[in-house]
Amino acid sequence: MTDQVIGRQSAHALINFFDDQHPPLGDFMRDVEEGLSATPRSIPPVYFYDQEGSALFDQITELPEYYVTRTELDLLGKISSELSLRAGAGAVVIEPGSGSSVKIRTLLDALGDASGYVGLDISRDHLIAACEDLARDYPDVAIGAVCANFTAGLKLDHLPLPDGRRLIFFPGSTIGNFEPADARAVLAGFRSGMRKGDAVLIGADRVKDEQILVDAYDDAAGVTAAFNLNLLERIRSELGATLNVEDFTHKSIWNTELQRIEMHLVAQRRTEIELNGKVHVFEVGETLHTENSHKFTPTSFQLLAESAGYTVVKHWSDQAELFSLYWLEPNWEA
Ligand code: AVJ
Repeated sequence: MTDQVIGRQSAHALINFFDDQHPPLGDFMRDVEEGLSATPRSIPPVYFYDQEGSALFDQITELPEYYVTRTELDLLGKISSELSLRAGAGAVVIEPGSGSSVKIRTLLDALGDASGYVGLDISRDHLIAACEDLARDYPDVAIGAVCANFTAGLKLDHLPLPDGRRLIFFPGSTIGNFEPADARAVLAGFRSGMRKGDAVLIGADRVKDEQILVDAYDDAAGVTAAFNLNLLERIRSELGATLNVEDFTHKSIWNTELQRIEMHLVAQRRTEIELNGKVHVFEVGETLHTENSHKFTPTSFQLLAESAGYTVVKHWSDQAELFSLYWLEPNWEA
């Protein structure tokens, strides 16, 4: 689809514009081949989210052990009047990696008088559908969709946006999926879409009791295990690999030194994955590392934000100190 209508009614009747920045798509085959050949073995977490994986992730957000989503939503609701005051009238909310989140509705409701919203995501059809749904429910907000990869910075200058203060909304602790240097680059990249007076509202999961963390990524119902194992299913069915999904089990571990939860797939017996004529042997106990979810203290998050050129203007947390929201403003050179 090469629909790139700017500045007038787009072909998608409900939204004000759709801008296709043609992000290079990740190459699943190449990334899996590389990841299986590397030591230690790993596969980037972006490949979790096929249709089945996205449905499983939605289930994860409702698990009793996975406090992340509900805690952040509650917190957004609790601080709504303060957010509205800080944002001011007519703010334009920009959401990198918007997906189909319900959080944006909570934020738009909190602000009350946002003038615009831009969803930005790599998954084109999903993005447009989500923005159209939002446009239906928020007729007074000018809704735009940008198909782009947010890790490459934000290109917003050519978009027909209302004039209000821009608020970059980055919820869910998605920032925790990135290694520290990449997290810094992602935050620094947001600045290319910002002007004086603009801000970032970002959610970051907190360091806490190890058992709570491990359980949040290894629930009793086995949904997170299914989510993790679905990656092997995809490698088998989409890439034509030969492998036995049953030879692997899901594992969630807390890496104290790096302050992160890691998800792995662990070989329960000696087994092989054959892909494109190459055989990758897994010895018993050998793992395939599939995700990092970094956790932060208020101090470690502040250091990250400052290293990316921001000041933490405000920090909010829930009573149990499970999850944090931060209001960041760029340090502009005088
Ligand atoms: C969507 C990356 C924020 O790290 O908590 C949930 C993904 N993985 N359970 C997270 C996830 C396993 C989630 N993020």
